[in-house]
Amino acid sequence: MTNRTIAFIGAGNMAAALIKGLVEDGYPADNIIASDPDHKRTDFIKECCAIRTLDENRTAVLEADVVVLAVKPQALPQIARDIAGAVGNSKPLIISIAAGIQTKHLAEWLGEDVAIIRTMPNTPAMLQTGTTGLYANPNTNEDQRNLAESIMRAVGLTLWVDSETMMDSVTAVSGSGPAYFFLVMEHMISAAEKMGMDHNSAKLLTLHTALGASRMALENPEDPSVLREKVTSPGGTTAAALAVFNESGLEQIIEDALTAARDRSIELSSQVNGEQA
Ligand SMILES: NC(=O)c1ccc[n+]([C@@H]2O[C@H](COP(=O)([O-])OP(=O)(O)OC[C@H]3O[C@@H](n4cnc5c(N)ncnc54)[C@H](OP(=O)(O)O)[C@@H]3O)[C@@H](O)[C@H]2O)c1
Repeated sequence: MTNRTIAFIGAGNMAAALIKGLVEDGYPADNIIASDPDHKRTDFIKECCAIRTLDENRTAVLEADVVVLAVKPQALPQIARDIAGAVGNSKPLIISIAAGIQTKHLAEWLGEDVAIIRTMPNTPAMLQTGTTGLYANPNTNEDQRNLAESIMRAVGLTLWVDSETMMDSVTAVSGSGPAYFFLVMEHMISAAEKMGMDHNSAKLLTLHTALGASRMALENPEDPSVLREKVTSPGGTTAAALAVFNESGLEQIIEDALTAARDRSIELSSQVNGEQA
């Protein structure tokens, strides 16, 4: 797979994370192109990863086996229409990382027979600890799905969904998820400070505890609920804290929050697609 040329359309934050991940993973930099009209972005990416850069999207597409659409969702309809001719000529696999843009609309702009894989990465991709949901349209073959998976795996975990509507739930869980954990960290730090702890100590204890808990949950075959039970002695300190969470309705709060994120994803998706289609 490393002999395929991958062209990134848009060389912003997410493209940089993916390119860095691929190069660090051993993907030949000579086989990666990034195209962006912003020379600051292309200079940065050329310096960091020694890949080739262009300022013309169509030229990049014509050279590519895989095209990664890494521009903002609002900019995508026009950019997709501009490259449609080149896509028709070279027939690359299209991977979109644009939030909320449905494959049916990409197909309208790029061509109905185009092989498209829609993905939803999250920000920890910048540290190669991302989580990416993937959905493939029916025009893709197994080789293309494997290729897309290995590209996204360069920045973390990948998970396929069978139905495109599930991408809204992926957005609610892992797309927006890092912010939920940041919020919990924020409140733990502030509660520790109110107990008299200095900010740096509160932050260090909180962040390292989050890392340890996450690693324990990932590396242990048991569900988090079992791990929680194991560390909760009846009548102990953890039980006292958990009782407060339960009495405050934390489970319902989390369910409501994720449902709100899922519903907003559907709403934004129909706005972007409705306006531009
Ligand atoms: N960041 C995240 O956490 C995240 C998570 C999941 C999905 N995504 C998706 O990833 C995509 C990229 O996000 P990002 O955060 O990387 O955005 P970004 O940093 O703004 O990158 C987009 C890049 O595309 C460039 N661009 C604009 N017009 C272009 C054109 N005609 N041809 C080529 N490049 C062009 C932009 O240049 P200018 O700045 O000059 O406009 C910018 O450098 C978005 O669709 C977003 O929904 C992002």
